[in-house]
Amino acid sequence: MDQGDEALPLSCATPEGEAALRLLLTRFSVSPKHLGEPGPTEDELWTMAMAALRAPDHNKRIPYRFVVARGEALERLAALFEDYGRRRGREGADLVRERERAMQAPVVIAVVARIDPRDEEVPAHEQWASVGGAISNALTALHFMGYAGKMVSGVRASDPAIVAAYCAEGETLVGWISTGTPKGPAKPRGEVDADGILGTF
Ligand SMILES: Cc1cc2nc3c(=O)[nH]c(=O)nc-3n(C[C@H](O)[C@H](O)[C@H](O)COP(=O)(O)O)c2cc1C
Repeated sequence: MDQGDEALPLSCATPEGEAALRLLLTRFSVSPKHLGEPGPTEDELWTMAMAALRAPDHNKRIPYRFVVARGEALERLAALFEDYGRRRGREGADLVRERERAMQAPVVIAVVARIDPRDEEVPAHEQWASVGGAISNALTALHFMGYAGKMVSGVRASDPAIVAAYCAEGETLVGWISTGTPKGPAKPRGEVDADGILGTF
């Protein structure tokens, strides 16, 4: 089934619901290298955060936070990535590429998880599920506001020096949502077998 298919059997109570669902079904990730200005404004980022808070969250633990970088803060992130590359023996053009990795999208939002493994009511896997829901809602909200984005982790998200720049004790750097305006139309990366995820008990 093609998620963007006009012929989807949508049955919504309201035209607003149908429009929102159609828009949701056209969300695809767009790599940072295909993103440019403008990025979301401060107000739009608050809206994104409010949407993240609408994710299901057992006992409202809010086991995540977002850390926004734009402008000069992206320079600091670039320096962190450059340092990462240098520590891995990279030099010259490879080091420049490390810097550029941080500077492609106009806004880069780190996702920091704060999972409490000793929580007696909400086990860790439920807290992680909320983190995933928050990421998804954030990306959807950005899409609804006309932006595109992609969540990436990669090896840098587990580098101790980069983690230390973002996280306090007990926190996990999940990765970064890069966001901005897509330079071209967003396209799905291949067919997804939706039939395989919906069964009956
Ligand atoms: C927590 C998390 C980390 C991810 N890390 C990466 C990554 O490092 N590199 C990557 O190419 N995709 C990564 N992805 C997947 C992309 O964000 C994206 O979902 C995938 O490319 C599929 O594209 P789609 O969202 O258009 O279906 C990650 C997704 C999540 C939720």
